[in-house]
Amino acid sequence: MKILVTGGLGFIGSHTVVELQNKGFEVVIIDDLSNSSQEVLGRITSITGKEPVFEKMDLREKGKVTDFFKRHQDVQGVIHFAASKAVGESVDMPLHYYENNINTLVYILQELTQKEKVGFIFSSSCTVYGQADTMPITEDAPVKPAESPYGNTKQIGEEIIRDTCKVTSGLNAISLRYFNPMGAHPSAAIGELPIGVPQNLVPFITQTGVGLREQLSVFGDDYPTSDGTCIRDYIHVVDLAKAHVVALERLLEGKNKENYEVFNVGTGTGSTVLEVIKSFEKVSGKKLNYKIVDRRAGDITTAYADTTRANNILGWKAESTLDEAMKSAWDWELKVRNK
Ligand code: WQD
Repeated sequence: MKILVTGGLGFIGSHTVVELQNKGFEVVIIDDLSNSSQEVLGRITSITGKEPVFEKMDLREKGKVTDFFKRHQDVQGVIHFAASKAVGESVDMPLHYYENNINTLVYILQELTQKEKVGFIFSSSCTVYGQADTMPITEDAPVKPAESPYGNTKQIGEEIIRDTCKVTSGLNAISLRYFNPMGAHPSAAIGELPIGVPQNLVPFITQTGVGLREQLSVFGDDYPTSDGTCIRDYIHVVDLAKAHVVALERLLEGKNKENYEVFNVGTGTGSTVLEVIKSFEKVSGKKLNYKIVDRRAGDITTAYADTTRANNILGWKAESTLDEAMKSAWDWELKVRNK
């Protein structure tokens, strides 16, 4: 069965391609290489022994998208990762984010609505909740005004899919709302490859640990939490990748109750920034150089998932602990730096 993975050479996309191939799916990747490298294709192949078909393409070119689906009429499922995803950058470049994250989604859906039956998995984010009022966060928590154009593109994206599914019986879709992905494949052949200075906590920690960064700045320790630092739900990227395969199989096997469903994908456990640092020091045996600085604008205090629906309806549960995820992130960093 042929599955299209857009953004399939990216961090979460590449790990999902591995899990799809492990389950026997034939994978075609579209990626514009704006935030990934074609080398990842060979690394995926080194893990699974099967080279996915790869087409470099800018999904903002509607004609190219239409042409792709003419040439690949046997695509039965699509997992759509391709999008710009840097929160801060989106504030500076809103129109780039709306064009790249929304237009491309519309072009893909316009092709999928021509098909008899197709499954569609959308890469969404807990960012749609903003600072939720109660913890853990359930899928019924109100979607709050987005804190950034990036977050807004995820909210709008979900609404576009929901409205399209309402009038397209052949389209079955699931939005997966990720919490905080981290870590790398146990082979250390693929992992997170942030371009430039990492915005996210975990790659900044491992780059500091390996000496690439001088010191980690902890953005505030005056939040109303156990140790004053923010709480997030850090999920191993392989667990997250597996959730995509389970969700796709749910649609392909017709097990979905509605033709549009939403699931939180997290561990259900929150960890503070200082706890994440402690985890790094435990798994690496190294002391991390960090200092407490002012809060980062736009940060929310706490976000961790209620995973009841994912566990009981989707039939998926995160397996890795924070330490296991951190160990995989550290092993990957050492591999990338040939240490
Ligand atoms: C985590 C915590 C920071 C860096 C973002 C996106 C979200 C999703 C995941 C795409 C926060 C603190 C961070 C640093 C720090 N991405 N921190 N020093 O902001 O929860 O979520 O990535 O879907 O949409 O918003 O992740 O890793 O940036 O921050 O103290 O150098 O670590 O303040 O409390 P975040 P993050």
